[in-house]
Amino acid sequence: MPIFAAFSLAAALSAAPAAATAPDTLEQRVAACLACHSVKERGDAYFPRIAGKPFGYLYNQLRNFRDGRRHYPMMTYMVTQLPDAYLREIADYFAARHPPYAAAAAGSGGSASAAQLARGETLVRQGDAGKQIPACVACHGAALTGVEPATPGLLGLPSDYINAQFGNWKNQTRRAAAPDCMADIAARLSEADVAAVSAWLSKQAPDAAARPATSLPAPLPLACGSVPSSTTGSAQ
Ligand code: HEC
Ligand code: HEC
Repeated sequence: MPIFAAFSLAAALSAAPAAATAPDTLEQRVAACLACHSVKERGDAYFPRIAGKPFGYLYNQLRNFRDGRRHYPMMTYMVTQLPDAYLREIADYFAARHPPYAAAAAGSGGSASAAQLARGETLVRQGDAGKQIPACVACHGAALTGVEPATPGLLGLPSDYINAQFGNWKNQTRRAAAPDCMADIAARLSEADVAAVSAWLSKQAPDAAARPATSLPAPLPLACGSVPSSTTGSAQ
């Protein structure tokens, strides 16, 4: 599993004589991140792309790993004890970068049927009023590129990674500021719906020239505590 190899690499980096203490420049720090979050690693079925996501989203996630609202040992190890100011610099670094996308990893979504993909697309674009699931595009943007300052884009992510995040929201091992809109939405999606959505999303070709939207045409359908001033939207 590449996670293990990269972890050894990170450990080797910090054990190298030239870096007997923790890395102390931004370049050294992000070099360790790139071992997993780089173009080369896109063939892996699990590493999420972080380049080009909105600054506020990345900063929130780094703090979430550090402070125990998200759980993934490798990530906690990378950011544990880093002060907010450093996490801000790292988030800023990655938000400003837009490397090309590599070919998508097939992952579990690769074997989805036409009917599953159709269901996935319907949920993304229209939601399911009967199950009180809002359209994903209502918050993530019509082109799914994310929205400044704190909503991530959804393209270029492996289906297995997306499935795992929904599992984490359902198990409450991934949390964001209250009201935690994604946890509420995850609770309304069946496992089959999650698989349909993740398969469809992972099959869309991302555009490297796309950037997060700067605004949405309408208020959010649900309030999200991690999105500033979204609490004015009409909560369901
Ligand atoms: C050993 C491999 C590895 C290294 C090294 C690593 N990451 Fe990660 N990172 C991951 C994995 C795997 C995930 C997904 C974890 C999960 O399921 O929540 C992740 C998740 C993230 C996320 C959340 C992504 C999202 O879309 O929500 C951010 C932000 C992030 N990493 C930043 C960093 C930064 C900054 C560094 C360097 C300081 C770093 N990572 C180093 C493997 C790594
Ligand atoms: C009410 C607004 C809203 C709606 C509707 C919504 N999202 Fe989200 N989503 C967010 C916000 C805000 C975040 C960032 C949460 C955080 O900070 O952890 C997010 C995060 C995510 C992430 C994490 C991305 C990553 O890189 O880890 C995924 C996956 C996701 N949403 C999928 C979906 C899907 C699929 C749908 C439709 C079924 C959907 N979302 C509908 C607001 C929304």
